[in-house]
Formats: sequence, structure tokens, C-alpha cells
Amino acid sequence: MTQTPMRERAARLGQEHLLRHLDSLPPGEADALEAQLDEVDLELVQQLAGTLEEEPEAPPAESIEPPEVFPSDPGERAAEAERARERGAELLAAGKVGYLVVAGGQASRLGYDGPKGTFPVGPVSGCSLFEFHARRLLAAARRHGAPTPWYVMTSRANDADTRAFFADHDHFGLDPDDVFFFSQGMVPAVDFEGRILLRSETELFLAPNGHGGSLLALRDSGALADMRARGIEQVSYFQVDNPLARPADPLFLGLHAEAGAGMSSKVVPKRDASEKVGVLGRVGGVLGCIEYSDLPEELREARDDEGELRFRAGNIAVHALAVEFVEEITQGGLKLPWHVARKTMPVWSDGGPAEVQGAKFETFVFDALHRSPESVTLEVERRLEFSPVKNRTGEDSPETCRRDLCRLFAGWVEARGLPLPRAGEDDALPVEVDPRLAESREEFLALPNPLPDIRPEGHLYTV
Ligand code: UD1
Repeated sequence: MTQTPMRERAARLGQEHLLRHLDSLPPGEADALEAQLDEVDLELVQQLAGTLEEEPEAPPAESIEPPEVFPSDPGERAAEAERARERGAELLAAGKVGYLVVAGGQASRLGYDGPKGTFPVGPVSGCSLFEFHARRLLAAARRHGAPTPWYVMTSRANDADTRAFFADHDHFGLDPDDVFFFSQGMVPAVDFEGRILLRSETELFLAPNGHGGSLLALRDSGALADMRARGIEQVSYFQVDNPLARPADPLFLGLHAEAGAGMSSKVVPKRDASEKVGVLGRVGGVLGCIEYSDLPEELREARDDEGELRFRAGNIAVHALAVEFVEEITQGGLKLPWHVARKTMPVWSDGGPAEVQGAKFETFVFDALHRSPESVTLEVERRLEFSPVKNRTGEDSPETCRRDLCRLFAGWVEARGLPLPRAGEDDALPVEVDPRLAESREEFLALPNPLPDIRPEGHLYTV
């Protein structure tokens, strides 16, 4: 076998097992695998594998403080909130906001075969997560009179299916020129000796590099340049799994812009000390998101003078990022810290399928908060803005999401004095309000009579 630069690097960097495997394959198949290996940053893999032995050190409890939070009920800060709302509305009307949804995850906890964004969530319409978000963007475009360019991050595994889903649904009524698909980077998974794993005889085991990868992928795909060309100054970031995310929120965008922040976040009060969400906090004075498992137990339970949890700023993964900030922190590559996930993985080993213990590597977008000198943390109401679909059953499942959507919409319908269907056994009323019709209770109540198209098959208020 000739010694190509890739072969030389692989041998030097501890991946000889892949070369032996390549030599055992017929030439056509070996070429495909060799091409994949050629694309891998083997130096990075070696560096990441070198961290497997290290036990990440938990920060001492004394160094952790809660963040300053802009309250959901602004009280004395009402004038500030009003100013921010106006600033946010100006940004929206001037078309200076771009929208980024991260949809590259593998939906493994949900056990759904397909891109998570295609999962049906509309309680009556059955519309998908993608369509729910698209309808909010259509509503925002109409409300503010400006386009709402949407940057959809996929991964290599679901990119083609995602694009096909949008095309099959006519981009949900959005202008296809305002939808920009791009894929995040992939990193090989390794065993605990740092050897790259195979998914099949001719494929490396590659895994998405975490939602932190969205920032570099924005740059590498040309999306950042596209934003600049369109005059976009702020990126509104949200996760595909939360149909209640409100990406065109003038208050949040305005507070973020007024503060001159690089990156800002929305949070909801944690339900209780044991809820497994990350919380925003300062470690040694630096703002970041502290994952549930990294928050010492005494702090998880700690209460303030009002009896509230001290660390209650639950991260809902809704952020605003200045385009300039994204440009700055991605210059010369992604410099976010890597996190290791140890998992049992279905691999190809010793000539057949097998399960092995191995490691995947990910970066988290909220680690970019460390790099943002100014940042706003806005508290919002959970029932209005957060009900993700993550697990097959139990909390944060399709069932709880449907229930939360129905409860919210039923409240609006009731406030208008309209008839409601009877509650089912799970207390979930099959009611839905299309975000294009109204995005809030106030908007729903302000609609003129008669309400458009109340479909006979269910309580669906739509355009
Ligand atoms: C995440 C946050 C957690 C927060 C919660 C709110 C992490 C580590 N934690 O948890 O602090 O409270 O959301 O919902 O993220 N994704 C990609 N590419 C990837 C990985 C993920 O696009 O490589 C996307 C997924 O499609 C999904 C989102 O990121 O939309 C969240 O990923 P997930 O792994 O489900 O995060 P959680 O563990 O639920």
C-alpha cells in the first residue's frame, strides 16, 4: 500500500487499526473509507482522546453565584422594559434580525426515526415542530413588515431529509430564498484508548459536534456572510424541540441590544431543586450555564431570603447573539471547550456488528457566554415559552408538550368566552391557535369577530 499523507498521519496519531482495516477491504470500498478519513482532523481527535483520563474538576461551591436576572414582571423596571421593547421592534422592522434553529441532534431519547423537526406537535393540526416555528416567523414578518431569514442547522445524518421535508411542504409558506440550510461539523467517536470507531464496514462512527458547532458552521457555510449582506445585526437562536420558543421577541432582543451584549439568554424558574435543567450562574465571576450534574447538591437546594431557590435560572436554550460577537469568537476556528459523553455505541468491530463503550465529543453553545463581557438574562414564564419534546414518555415528552399547548390555547379561547371542547382523560383539551393568527393572549383577544375558520374537526383557530 502506498504511503499517502493521510496514511502517514493516521499511523503517527494512533489510528493504525483503521489502516489495517482499510487493507482488508476491496479497493472500491477502501476508497470510500479513506476519503472519510481524509476529512477528519486527526490531531484534534488525538488531543480530545488525551482528555479521556482527566476527571473534570467541579468548581468549589463558594465560587458559584446566581446571575443578575431581568424579571418577567419588570415592576420598577417597567420604563426600561418599554424602551427595550421599542428598540427590539425597531430592529425587527429594519430586518436586522436573523433566526437560527439548531436541528442537528439525533432525537435518540425521543426514539423518533427522522429529523426531530419533522415530529408532529400541533394538538389539532398535527403540524410539525418545523412548521410551528415557520408559522411564528411568518407572523413576525407580517407584524414587523420585514423578512425573517431562517438559518436551519442540520447534521450530515439528517440534512437531506430536512431539506426534502421543507420542499415537500412548500417551505411552509416561507420564501425559499429566506431559508438557509447548513450542516454542523462531525467528530469521530473513539474507544477509551482513543481509537476511532467504525459504524459499518465502510463508514467511520461520526457524531455531530454539539450545538456549539453552530457558531463555526455559521461562518464556514457562508451563513454569517449572508447575514452581513442582508444587514442582519442580531441572531435569534432557539432549539427545534421547543414549539413555544418566541424567536421574534422585541423585549428580549431590545434588552440585549441596549446592553451592547454579545450573547444573552432567556431562563425560566426551575420547577423544583431536582429538575434536570442547566442553570445560569457565575463561576469565579464568569457567567455561564452550569449543567445539573455540575451544581453541587447544597447549591441545588439552597434558598434565598424569600424562600425561592437561589439557583433557579433554568436555561431554555433561547439566546440572542450579536453577529459581530459570532464573527469574533469564530475567528481562527471554534474555541469552545469540549465535553465528553461516555456511551454504549453500536459499532462495527472484528468483522461484524457489536456494542462497545466509547466516547463522543461535543461543544455547547452556552459556553460562548464566557466570552461575552455584557449579557442579559431575561426570565420568562414557562407556560408561555417552554415545553420541549425530548423524551418518549414522562416529562418533556410529546404528551406533556401537547398538554401544555392545549392549556395555553384553552386559556385564550376561554378568555374570549368561546366554547371549549370537554377535557379528555389526560386533561388535555384539543385546542390549537395557529401562531399566524395570534402569538399571545392579547393578540387573540384583539382579533375582530368572527374568528377565521374554526375547523369542524377540532378546535383549531387558524388563518
Ligand atoms: C439542553 C441544555 C440544557 C437546557 C435544555 C433546554 C445541553 C448540554 N443542555 O439540554 O442546559 O436546559 O437544553 O431544553 O445542551 N443539537 C444539535 N446538534 C448537536 C446536539 C444538539 O443541533 O450536536 C440540538 C438538538 O437538535 C436540540 C438541541 O440542540 O434541538 C438540544 O439538544 P439536547 O441534546 O436535546 O439537549 P438537552 O440535553 O435536552
